[in-house]
Amino acid sequence: MAALSGRDLLSLADLSPKEVQELLEMATQLKLQKLKLRCNKVLGLLFSKASTRTRVSFSVAMYQLGGQVIDLNPNVTQVSRGEPIQDTARVLERYLDILAIRTFAQQELETFAHYAKIPVINALTDLEHPCQVLADLLTIKEYFNTFTGLTLTYLGDGNNVANSLVLGCALAGMNVRVATPSGYEPNAAIIEAARSIAGNKTEVILTHDPEVATKGVNVLYTDVWASMGQESEADDRTPIFQTYQINEELLNLADPEAIVLHCLPAHRGEEITDAVIEGSQSRVWDQAENRMHVQKALLASLLGAD
Ligand code: CP
Repeated sequence: MAALSGRDLLSLADLSPKEVQELLEMATQLKLQKLKLRCNKVLGLLFSKASTRTRVSFSVAMYQLGGQVIDLNPNVTQVSRGEPIQDTARVLERYLDILAIRTFAQQELETFAHYAKIPVINALTDLEHPCQVLADLLTIKEYFNTFTGLTLTYLGDGNNVANSLVLGCALAGMNVRVATPSGYEPNAAIIEAARSIAGNKTEVILTHDPEVATKGVNVLYTDVWASMGQESEADDRTPIFQTYQINEELLNLADPEAIVLHCLPAHRGEEITDAVIEGSQSRVWDQAENRMHVQKALLASLLGAD
């Protein structure tokens, strides 16, 4: 069982390869109901951006552990009226046992974690989405039963999901290729960190060629071309990203047994076609379900549940 008691999860790089494997194993045991854990604790959700999956999967996971959840919508707290993060963090730690934060700047999350002594979880920032990628890894492990020898290709915008995916693949022991238009590559420091984790065991490849990136791969992954906060750029981005769309033609270049993942919400007809997301190789609904199982394992581990 992963022993992460009292720690924060601000970046996927906060976990070792062994801890990732242990969390995935714990999530599998919880999903199969071979492991039952209880913790009578309170989780706060402080989300400054919209969320369906993360909000609901964290809430259900905490309820199933026997804990409770408080939805701290910034609009109904003093956060939206400018109360300093360091003050909010030191107050919330007196009430809550654990806090999941969805916000814009990674620095804001890190400031929260610095001042709050309780575990703080990154529930998405502009830089990373580690909980999503833990669920993605669980979905890949379920299907292939291994990471060894697999290659995942991410196509589209080098956003928070792409950043966490390159770290996640390196930690899990998978090859990863990221195909983006020029100027939309993942974060350079994260690529360097992923290459350091991967060493000479697996590859972390960046390219601008979606077809080369897709040939023979085992997992194809995409996300929206304009993330939350970038909506005003969406129309300008569409022609730039068009050749990175996962459609049947591109999917045919991947391994015949390849699976398709998308963190959702999806914009059908943009980054992925309706035929692919609804097709036989799509695993997006299992992937969404796995958010709950892996976050249950994460909550239990950070809270030291037994
Ligand atoms: N994938 C994901 O984080 O979904 P939500 O934005 O709905 O939480």
